[in-house]
Amino acid sequence: MLGVCYYPEQWPAAMWAEDARRMREVGISFVRVAEFAWSRLEPRPGELRFEWLDEVIAILGAAGLRVVLGTPTATPPKWLADRSPEVLMVDAQGRRRRHGGRRHTDLSSPVFWEESRRIVALMAERYGRDPHVAGWQVDNEFGCHDSAVCYSPAAEAGFRLWLERRYGTVEALNAAWGTVFWSMEYGSFAEVDAPHLVVADAAPAHLLDFQRYSSDRIAAYGQMQADTIRAASRDQFVTTNFMGMFFELDPFDAMRAYDFASWDSYPLGHTDRLTLPGDENQVFARTGHPDVPGFSNDFYRAAGRGRFWIMEQQPGPVNWAEHNPAPLPGMVRLWTWQALAQGAEVVSYFRWRQVPYAQEQMHAALNRPDDRLDRGGHEAAQVARELAALPLDPPARAPVALVVDLETEWITRFLPQSREFTYKSILLSWYTELRGLGLDVDVLRPGDDLSGYALTVVPTLGTVSEAALASFRDAGGVVLYGPRTGAKTADFAIPPNLPPGRLQDLIPLKVARVETLRPEMPVAVAGTVAGAGGLWREFIESDLEPLARFDDGEGAFYAAGRHHYLAACPDPTLLAAVMAYVVGEAGLESARLPRGLRLQRRGSLTFALNFGPDAVEAPAPAGAAFVLGGRRVAPQDVAAWRC
Ligand code: GLA
Repeated sequence: MLGVCYYPEQWPAAMWAEDARRMREVGISFVRVAEFAWSRLEPRPGELRFEWLDEVIAILGAAGLRVVLGTPTATPPKWLADRSPEVLMVDAQGRRRRHGGRRHTDLSSPVFWEESRRIVALMAERYGRDPHVAGWQVDNEFGCHDSAVCYSPAAEAGFRLWLERRYGTVEALNAAWGTVFWSMEYGSFAEVDAPHLVVADAAPAHLLDFQRYSSDRIAAYGQMQADTIRAASRDQFVTTNFMGMFFELDPFDAMRAYDFASWDSYPLGHTDRLTLPGDENQVFARTGHPDVPGFSNDFYRAAGRGRFWIMEQQPGPVNWAEHNPAPLPGMVRLWTWQALAQGAEVVSYFRWRQVPYAQEQMHAALNRPDDRLDRGGHEAAQVARELAALPLDPPARAPVALVVDLETEWITRFLPQSREFTYKSILLSWYTELRGLGLDVDVLRPGDDLSGYALTVVPTLGTVSEAALASFRDAGGVVLYGPRTGAKTADFAIPPNLPPGRLQDLIPLKVARVETLRPEMPVAVAGTVAGAGGLWREFIESDLEPLARFDDGEGAFYAAGRHHYLAACPDPTLLAAVMAYVVGEAGLESARLPRGLRLQRRGSLTFALNFGPDAVEAPAPAGAAFVLGGRRVAPQDVAAWRC
């Protein structure tokens, strides 16, 4: 269940066989290669040099390793950019970007599509039936380095066609976007530009549609590559590697092209980039916040229809965050076990050996540049030994559903109304609250079947569609909706019956007015639950008697049968109180875990994963049979028992 990312083109061929032997020794089964190797596969147009890759695959295969082949389209060679500059992306400032880094291409460019199809087809014809090739990774980290949205003439042309298909007539577009405002009206689709370089804000519906177009484009481009591979391959999987908490593209849509999801997990870099409450950035600097990888494991298990890999696992310090701490001893093992506990099929480390030159020379690997196994390598080997003695059951359904929606991130970003009201921070804090109560969480999309869940949590949801409404109505248990749910129509306007729009069918209340306040201006909430909420606060009209009120007497928390609505962006105290309340209403057993401890069930196994600074007692029933570790779980350690 372990893998590694390997760059044979960066090392002398004389090292390959020994590398393969040592990978086996560590306990590696899968090796990803070639995703950045276009300039070595085709140094000049049409001049193909696949022999070295043949040899690498043969060597790895002979050592008993299975190969994951990356398509090299995230790094096209210089000759392509020089010969056809239209393959290069154009950024929001209108600048054509240049060769020399990566992800510098335009996924709307017909020339780039053709070149991509050509190199992928050549690879698929050569390796599509190779018994050592287990499967394919399409491209690499779509959208990374701010590349999800491109403003090239080709993107603009593609956007116009997309709009024509969506709206049929320009009058319908004008109505949907509300272009009468500020004289933005269009006389034809050909007049519509990409929404950049405008003074003041572009229309929010315009921004939303361009984001939808860009996300669709990435999905279609990945689909083209997957189709090209499948046309020439047999019994090989196709996936792509997504990124953690990256919301510029919708992986659920993109997943139509792939057999399972995979994602790249860098807990320390991503924790460093977040602003966490209190002292958490310091406390979790060398372990990562447990829910940073935790959320994405649940998210990509959902996107992957139950199946996901970690395609790249942080092995030591990375090079790209603002600060790059070294993980504490044990963390590479703990992250691996966490992903496996949450259902990962394979955890693949990035990368086999630290490369002493170029952009990522400060990025650790399983091996140091002098080829000695580094701490992360020893920990991977330990997991391999432990796994051999511990067969894992398939993951089971969690008791809690968390409804996540990419468009809600786009809506809150394009019309924020408050600097602090960001979808990412809301999602993570609500998820963390559930995890801190020891509850497993399944991620679902609006409209998914919620009938099997004791509790459904909707932290916020931009638009409540007919399908979402039906699934909430049919939810099996208690449902909690956060503020700004149902606040917009699909055209990014206020619903005619006011927010929460269609949700009023299930909970009779109306948001008459909204205010957002500075963090130092909390508005106290008291009643069945207490705390404060001022970052986002709604003034509700309803005949329902509120369960809690703001200190000016206005209602803050409501219930109508099983459906609960919170009219504030809660501070940690209010969030904890509301969550404890609905968890109780749902009849779920829960207990607040010590700081940094996380529990996770996988089939008959329960894992206790300690990201915190202190040793803790695993909350296992008396007489539980431990199959990994024991009842006392040291910091950075993991225990597991069978129930
Ligand atoms: C990403 C990329 C890799 C590498 C790592 C470094 O995940 O996919 O190629 O750059 O980051 O952390």
